[in-house]
Amino acid sequence: TIWRVGRLEGGRLATELREAAELLRGGGVVAFPTETVYGLGADARSTAAVGRIFAAKGRPADNPLIVHIADRRQLDELALSPSELAETLMDRFWPGPLTIVLPVREGVLSPLVTAGLATVGVRMPDHRTALALLALAGCPVAAPSANRSGKPSPTLAEHVIEDLDGLIDGVVDDGATGVGLESTVVELAGERTIRILRPGGVTRESLQLAVPGAVIDAASSEAPEEAPRSPGMKYAHYAPEGELELVQGRPEAVVRYIREQAGAAQARGEATGVLAFEERLGLYAADHVYSLGSESELEAAAHRLYAALRGMDAGGVQRIWAEACPERGIGAALMNRMAKAAGHRIVTV
Ligand code: TXA
Ligand code: MG
Repeated sequence: TIWRVGRLEGGRLATELREAAELLRGGGVVAFPTETVYGLGADARSTAAVGRIFAAKGRPADNPLIVHIADRRQLDELALSPSELAETLMDRFWPGPLTIVLPVREGVLSPLVTAGLATVGVRMPDHRTALALLALAGCPVAAPSANRSGKPSPTLAEHVIEDLDGLIDGVVDDGATGVGLESTVVELAGERTIRILRPGGVTRESLQLAVPGAVIDAASSEAPEEAPRSPGMKYAHYAPEGELELVQGRPEAVVRYIREQAGAAQARGEATGVLAFEERLGLYAADHVYSLGSESELEAAAHRLYAALRGMDAGGVQRIWAEACPERGIGAALMNRMAKAAGHRIVTV
């Protein structure tokens, strides 16, 4: 079932969302929009339901899921009493793209959700439709991104259908998501240390502003270490089918390098693609050139990245080059995702 929120009037919206919520309560798996990417939801207390998420995505069982709530009062059931630092972050960033890893309360969530960890990642999405659905469902909803494992996360309902049609019970379609990259996942140590396990919609800078005394320990876009603290970090994610290279350096050098490489690949008969900022878009002659928007507004690049990577796949592109960006603000999350999509092939020119 596809419920198209945009086409529904107020009254019908509630009816259709009620149908989706009832499916969730009955052990179904339903995809829904959030402000970051589309999620694939199931009742987090039900092992049968959560098992269907892993099966539909083809997700490794040792990668835990984020639990979504609509109301702070749902937290008591899921997690042990949060620290003052956790409360401060919730006050400031919820609803919003911040997942906080908290000590889990035993016996409520399906063990599949936490993948055997003593912690649970929780967030409250800043999205009207998501919040309405979560409130109607009335249960904690486990939801990873609604893509097949290893594909770019879905920023449109069409992407969900492309990957998961026939494997899930329904999709709530409310058009494009906002941020376009996943939430920031943080782990807290004591009252002062915030460890960013995955950069995302809430920037390091805004965390620092919210808690000026905090020590913020940020995950880099380098290849993950041996024993990642966030299990999801060890998997090759967001990989397009073509081979992607991330190119950094002075703009003129970047343009020269990509033009040379793409020209040579074209001469070999390969289908080529470039992900570039508006400022230099016209300088590339690859078969598929996608705009990341202006370099001075990286939010647009975040919003567009995953759809562009899917576009490359649809176009059968074999070799892709992406322009790097400064790792400031949302740029940190953007570089993290582009580096992963590149399988950490990053060249400095
Ligand atoms: O924006 C988002 O976070 C989206 C939307 C749907 O909410 N969800 C999402 O879920 O990106 P997923 O499953 O694709 O990514 C969850 C990430 C993984 O890297 C996972 O390892 C990490 O969060 N994670 C979940 N629970 C954790 C825990 N208890 N400790 C450490 N990392 C955890
Ligand atoms: Mg994901």
